[in-house]
Amino acid sequence: MVEQLERYGIVQSKRVKEVMEAIDRGLFVPAGSGSPYYDSPMSIGYNATISAPHMHATCLELLEKHLQPGMRALDVGSGTGYLTACFAMMVGPQGRAVGVEHIPELVSFSIDNIKRSAAATLLDDGSLSMHVADGRQGWPEMAPYDAIHVGAAAPEIPQPLLDQLKPGGRLVIPVGTVFQELKVIDKNPDGSISVRDETSVRYVPLTSKAAQLKAY
Ligand SMILES: C[S@@+](CC[C@H](N)C(=O)[O-])C[C@H]1O[C@@H](n2cnc3c(N)ncnc32)[C@H](O)[C@@H]1O
Repeated sequence: MVEQLERYGIVQSKRVKEVMEAIDRGLFVPAGSGSPYYDSPMSIGYNATISAPHMHATCLELLEKHLQPGMRALDVGSGTGYLTACFAMMVGPQGRAVGVEHIPELVSFSIDNIKRSAAATLLDDGSLSMHVADGRQGWPEMAPYDAIHVGAAAPEIPQPLLDQLKPGGRLVIPVGTVFQELKVIDKNPDGSISVRDETSVRYVPLTSKAAQLKAY
């Protein structure tokens, strides 16, 4: 899977290649859902999905410089915990990786997944933590963050996430409803914000728990 992503130019850096090889996607997909290594999103229940490998790789590449050892990362809509585990490996035991997900059952699922993965020791030592909360509010306890990733599409950029971004930090977030763009938002050293569109995407919505579970 990682070799193919590298061949297509989606995995570009040594660090992203290494972390995607270290964190086995197969441990993060519910049993019996088919091959975890196809480049496609898969249902994880609760009207949620694990994102496709090419989207994981794209977001890791966009955030790579902001996931250096000792840095702080926030993963909003952490779902299976796959990307949070990758973030934790990249920032290492001196850094902090925080996952926030509003479905409690998915947080339990993600913790079980991480415990079986190469990131297990980081969960034990507290540099990786998973929380049940509304991610639209971020996770102010550990702010400011060098890297923030949002794994669900927001109608607009949530202000708390901008507030919790460190100057020099980067937020990667899908924005939109029917048509969505993956936005790359940099907070400049003077606190001003630069925004650019990376690519068109299709994510589940960043919404309330009740709205997400309505049709489930
Ligand atoms: C595409 S899915 C999972 C993405 C995750 N990166 C993965 O690959 O496992 C998006 C997740 O966002 C969660 N979500 C949606 N709205 C949320 C909110 N307001 N707060 C926290 N999580 C939310 C969903 O429950 C879902 O698990």
